[in-house]
Amino acid sequence: MDKILVHGGHPLSGTVKIGGSKNSALPILAATLLTKEPCVIRHVPDLSDIHYMLQILSHLGAQVERASGVVTVTAEKIDTVAPYDIVRKMRASVCVLGPLLGREKEATVSLPGGCVIGDRPIDLHLKGFAGLGASHRIAQGNVKVFAGELKGGLVSLRGKQGPTVLGTDNVMMAATLADGVTVIDNAAAEPEVVDLANFLNAMGAKIEGAGTRRIIIEGVKELHGAEHEVIPDRIEAGTFMVAAAVAGEKVTLQRVDPGHLDAVSDRLQEAGYKIDVAKDSLTVHGNGVTNCTQITTEPYPGFPTDMQAQMCALLSKGKGVSVITETVFPQRYMHVSELKRMGANIELDGATATVTGVEHLSGAPVMASDLRASAALVLAGLHADGVTEVSRVYHIDRGYECIDEKLNSLGAQIERVKVKG
Ligand code: UD1
Repeated sequence: MDKILVHGGHPLSGTVKIGGSKNSALPILAATLLTKEPCVIRHVPDLSDIHYMLQILSHLGAQVERASGVVTVTAEKIDTVAPYDIVRKMRASVCVLGPLLGREKEATVSLPGGCVIGDRPIDLHLKGFAGLGASHRIAQGNVKVFAGELKGGLVSLRGKQGPTVLGTDNVMMAATLADGVTVIDNAAAEPEVVDLANFLNAMGAKIEGAGTRRIIIEGVKELHGAEHEVIPDRIEAGTFMVAAAVAGEKVTLQRVDPGHLDAVSDRLQEAGYKIDVAKDSLTVHGNGVTNCTQITTEPYPGFPTDMQAQMCALLSKGKGVSVITETVFPQRYMHVSELKRMGANIELDGATATVTGVEHLSGAPVMASDLRASAALVLAGLHADGVTEVSRVYHIDRGYECIDEKLNSLGAQIERVKVKG
């Protein structure tokens, strides 16, 4: 288990390249199961969650080759039972259900449990499959979905907390090979859903409306192999934008889609940061003082829940009182107690955090609890006095490719140390 030591107070400047989107690459890799032919996926980030997905594809019988960001998958013959040992490590494994159901008309995956960011049900995924005529059975911790044949239908995917991203992906993937037309209402409109739809269309699917709340899928008999380049990771980009605000002089992010980052840019501008936008890059100018702002996390195009913890770290040191409301995962505040150990003044009341900016944060040993919370602790360390020691950094490696090296290339002083035992 590695630890990260962040030496605070070193200004950041320069240019950083953003990687391919983890949350796009995962369902896109799962979608390669929909065809017997080879698929070539470019710009796949080198992350542990991606390794798990590739292991699942191999266990299901696909041939997987990987060379510097390019993954080739050929799923000529496939099994329909995803192995528990790997599936349990990553909740996103659930997105193999849709393609397996579409192609083989059955799929078994172990049920994802809750996780530190809250309860993670899949009722909406199952409701969507039922709309295509599939049944499900839960036994021994596994969920099996199956259908004699899949028929297009009208499916609404709105839950208590809004639409579901992977649920939309799953139903969209299964529906590509269903008989007839499927309409998904209250679909997730995240850029990652659009990226998946573009890949599926390149494979011969007939999907319209991805990126809106209504997606229409006309089923086809079969899909073929295709090549695709994954979109830039808007959450990695957002995290570096916050790093630039926390400790930056002038930091330019390359290979981003600035349009995907509007909600984050708006909040940073309101907090007092100047942002210059170009076609596929943007520059954040540090100003040394963070003003307060109000943030409510919402489905895209609202402010992303995956950026909430990082903003909390930024607003902890600054002027005034900020209010953060989490509507997507109301319990996603594990970082708060750790930030408080660094001197932050944050009051939690249900899904709302009131952050009163302080003048100084001080480095402390802190523990990462989930992927984005751990990024937030590293960011807090950048503007804390002294050394912040972040343990359990395997969380951060699930979603950030070499975050320590990338921050160091901008001038940060971060060490990664091996912990024995
Ligand atoms: C995806 C992202 C994750 C992001 C989240 C919300 C991936 C791999 N992960 O997760 O990083 O934080 O979107 O933007 O893309 N829900 C139900 N029933 C369901 C499914 C979800 O009630 O069947 C609820 C969830 O508990 C949550 C909300 O809906 O409160 C949104 O979750 P969802 O969009 O499904 O998240 P994921 O797709 O798992």
